[in-house]
Amino acid sequence: MTTVLLTGATGFIGGAALAYGLSRDPDIRWICLVRGNGMAQARTRLLENLVRFLGAEAAREAILRVEIVVGDITVPASLEDRRLDAVTHILHLAADTSFRAQEHCHLVNVEGTRALAARAGRMPHLQRFLYGGTAMICGGNPPPLVRESDAPAEAAQHLVPYTRTKVAAETMLRHEFADLPVVMVRPSIVTGHRTLGCIPSSSIFWMFRAGDRLRLVAGELAGGIDVVPVDWTAEVLVGLLTKPALAYDVYHLSAGEAKRTTWDSLAAAFERCDPQGSPRRYGRFDDGDWKTLRSRFQAVFGLDQPIKVAMLRAMRAYYQFSTLGVAFDNRRLTDEGFALPPTLSDYLPVCLSAPANLSILDQFADDLGMFDGAPMVQENLVQAKPVAA
Ligand SMILES: NC(=O)c1ccc[n+]([C@@H]2O[C@H](COP(=O)([O-])OP(=O)(O)OC[C@H]3O[C@@H](n4cnc5c(N)ncnc54)[C@H](OP(=O)(O)O)[C@@H]3O)[C@@H](O)[C@H]2O)c1
Repeated sequence: MTTVLLTGATGFIGGAALAYGLSRDPDIRWICLVRGNGMAQARTRLLENLVRFLGAEAAREAILRVEIVVGDITVPASLEDRRLDAVTHILHLAADTSFRAQEHCHLVNVEGTRALAARAGRMPHLQRFLYGGTAMICGGNPPPLVRESDAPAEAAQHLVPYTRTKVAAETMLRHEFADLPVVMVRPSIVTGHRTLGCIPSSSIFWMFRAGDRLRLVAGELAGGIDVVPVDWTAEVLVGLLTKPALAYDVYHLSAGEAKRTTWDSLAAAFERCDPQGSPRRYGRFDDGDWKTLRSRFQAVFGLDQPIKVAMLRAMRAYYQFSTLGVAFDNRRLTDEGFALPPTLSDYLPVCLSAPANLSILDQFADDLGMFDGAPMVQENLVQAKPVAA
């Protein structure tokens, strides 16, 4: 019997993966490691997340098929539950994804992953350990088309400490747990859902709306951004987890060159959804031109509340990532038979309409935890360091 251990099920991608996985194959046993102050709270937290993807009634039914281990990857004792001895597949998506809290990112993303991997080494039936990384481990100076083999590069500079901890986790897994059947999966930017829009989460989507309002995009105006929807990500993750044999041990989960969202198409899609009477024209944000960004932001949103200041700071971080203008090669994925994702322009209408009447600021508030107190990323370039084996 396939028994999956899922970490991160209360999160954006983990919730989508669980909702999809439960609907796809009724014979898979799902065990979720969930943080909580006891079983009741952990169950409530997981249910709340499933409701976002499935609705209340279906979520209440679905959760009956999930076993919960109350635990935390940074607390190795909580991974000792004997049910984990039966695990055949691990989908490890738990992480601290914030752009701040450098030490906490390291604790969760490196030390927590190390604790889970050590426990996985004592799972006698384990066939696959899918580790959720990020394509952004390419660092701050990547080639225009990043291939899986390009990263991690030890000398890479990083825009935020978070991506550096994801490099460290991959390096640690390769060096210290070479015997485990680890497959790295590296999503690019995950935002929105093809049918639910932003109901499950507004994560990062507010940034596209805000950029549209500022009429300002980073990088080449003729360029674009590699972004994928969460439900496609979930389908690919569950597919890679359960496919009997895989040709590679690292995969980008990305739009690639073919499905990168171009700024032109995004402007046209916004115009169709929110007509302003003439074609929208985006201007180019030049890397480091924070004055222009700030003055444009002030004119459009104002800077009269702390949350707006936080939003401006968060936009700076995303503009820096966006300036890279990269696409992440996904030929490995298509070679495995997975369909390409849609572009964001294709599913923008549903993201704008569901849920209805949520302001950009409301949507940013959803993401605020990622940025609150974040240092200015430009002053924060950090060197990738291999983890001692
Ligand atoms: N979203 C993206 O655009 C994107 C892009 C590339 C890669 N990724 C990667 O994909 C994975 C999932 O991302 P996401 O966006 O779904 O993140 P998310 O929404 O922030 O969810 C993070 C999950 O990790 C759990 N978690 C955090 N610390 C934990 C701990 N110490 N022990 C156990 N669980 C813990 C959280 O549980 P609580 O609910 O208890 O906090 C939550 O379920 C991450 O590895 C991330 O690096 C994401």
